[in-house]
Amino acid sequence: MSAVAPTIEPNPLREGLEQERVPDASCLVIFGASGDLTHRKLLPALYSLAHDGLLPAGQTIIGFSRPDYTDEAFRMDVREACNKYARTRPVDDAVWENFAKGLFYVRGDFTEPGAYLRLKQKLEECDRSRGTGGRRIYYLAVPPNFFPVICEFLGGEGMVNDPERGGPFTRAIIEKPFGHDLESARELNRVAVSTFRERQVFRIDHYLGKETVQNLLVLRFANGIFEPFWNRQYIDHVQFTVAESIGVEKRGGYFDSAGITRDIVQNHLLQLVSLFAMEPPVAFEANAVRDEKVKVIRALREFPKGREHELAVRGQYTAGSVLGEKAPGYLQEENVKPNSRTETFSALKLFVDNWRWADVPFYIRAGKRLPKRVTDISIHFRPAPYPLFNKGTSVKTQPNVLAIRIQPDEGISLKFDSKVPGPSVRTAPVSMEFRYATSFGAEPPEAYERLLLETMLGDSTLFARRDEVETAWAWLDPLLNTWASDSRPPDSYAAGTWGPESADALIERDGRKWRRP
Ligand code: BG6
Repeated sequence: MSAVAPTIEPNPLREGLEQERVPDASCLVIFGASGDLTHRKLLPALYSLAHDGLLPAGQTIIGFSRPDYTDEAFRMDVREACNKYARTRPVDDAVWENFAKGLFYVRGDFTEPGAYLRLKQKLEECDRSRGTGGRRIYYLAVPPNFFPVICEFLGGEGMVNDPERGGPFTRAIIEKPFGHDLESARELNRVAVSTFRERQVFRIDHYLGKETVQNLLVLRFANGIFEPFWNRQYIDHVQFTVAESIGVEKRGGYFDSAGITRDIVQNHLLQLVSLFAMEPPVAFEANAVRDEKVKVIRALREFPKGREHELAVRGQYTAGSVLGEKAPGYLQEENVKPNSRTETFSALKLFVDNWRWADVPFYIRAGKRLPKRVTDISIHFRPAPYPLFNKGTSVKTQPNVLAIRIQPDEGISLKFDSKVPGPSVRTAPVSMEFRYATSFGAEPPEAYERLLLETMLGDSTLFARRDEVETAWAWLDPLLNTWASDSRPPDSYAAGTWGPESADALIERDGRKWRRP
């Protein structure tokens, strides 16, 4: 009897990342088409996708909002936005001509039944004229208080196709804030899944669309050399910084009711922490990746009741100067309450209580009006076990640091000690650098380009799942409640500095220092 080699069937859960994928043409409806996000990010991203030949023929975009535009006026408005904000600006006439043919506008109030009928009609027209085949993507670029009414109308008017029944897809994209706390997040999710199934809901955290954030997974799981030391045996601590030089700009009203911890930490920073700390997923596939991420968030140690201040610091900027320009204090910003206690800076010390990370501190900080805009993760390794060099001198060997620069000047650097040339053995830190710009020579696409394309393709790997969002709130809520009931104001820092002194004390108490990114 001859031996027969077993055939290995491809496992659909382990397909991995395909190189090039082209979505089917659909109608993308943007609710809130006259808003800032649509102008600055969404429409320019869609145009850049068209410019790079990544949109399918027939892709249609329908703006839906209150102002009274014709299709023609909407197109002019979109062209202006693309000329101002698109990565691939200025607008190219030939690309534009084709792109503009797929742009339409429906005027309407989110609470007006007639508007949904007009929208439905337009969608059906587009199916006939542009071959969109009943495929729908609804982008809710609106404040969360409009989610329920929009979902109710879409469901009630039969504009949502249940994937269980087959047929063309319907997907919904929702934007943060996903709630203000656990309870409101649960309510939003309840509303979303009363109209859509969870797999039809794409929750955007634009950090997941950044090339460098995705590269964190490639760095860890496409290379053999990093994973063996990615754990408590070799890593002393990790620092995460999301620094912005801007203040609250025109968003004082929203920001004052949120604060930096809700605005950045609950979402963007926890996404970075979970991608950094997660176990290898069984595949680069939506649920496999998100299962691992959510385990990290579940493993975050609770803040000790009554001793939160030992692990968490909040700050608020006062007047100062940033990048050579005078900046007002937070309390002088438009639409901010004059006695506001909202934090514009927060620094936390976290622990991921699992086998890989037990007792390794993760220091994370986010702030507005810091000296510059930079997002950076630095991994600080344990020192060499025994000092062989620099004996009899005050020079110490430096621990190795692997720094991942998320933005700007995207890249990765490794700091290590080297021998200083000369007859004696003296050491000095040097660094090995990788820079996106020089290695790949091309500007990375904007986060929204990637995320819009992924939604069209129906791949939710780069989107937040319901349990991720709720678990993050469940961890953060007690701290936010403690802060809310504390009558003391946040610690102050002058605009243009790296946060309050208490943030330095948080890490210096442990004999460590913030790295200056
Ligand atoms: C948004 C926050 O989610 O992210 C803003 O609401 C913040 O306050 C922005 O400015 C930062 O994004 P990026 O891509 O500039 O780091």
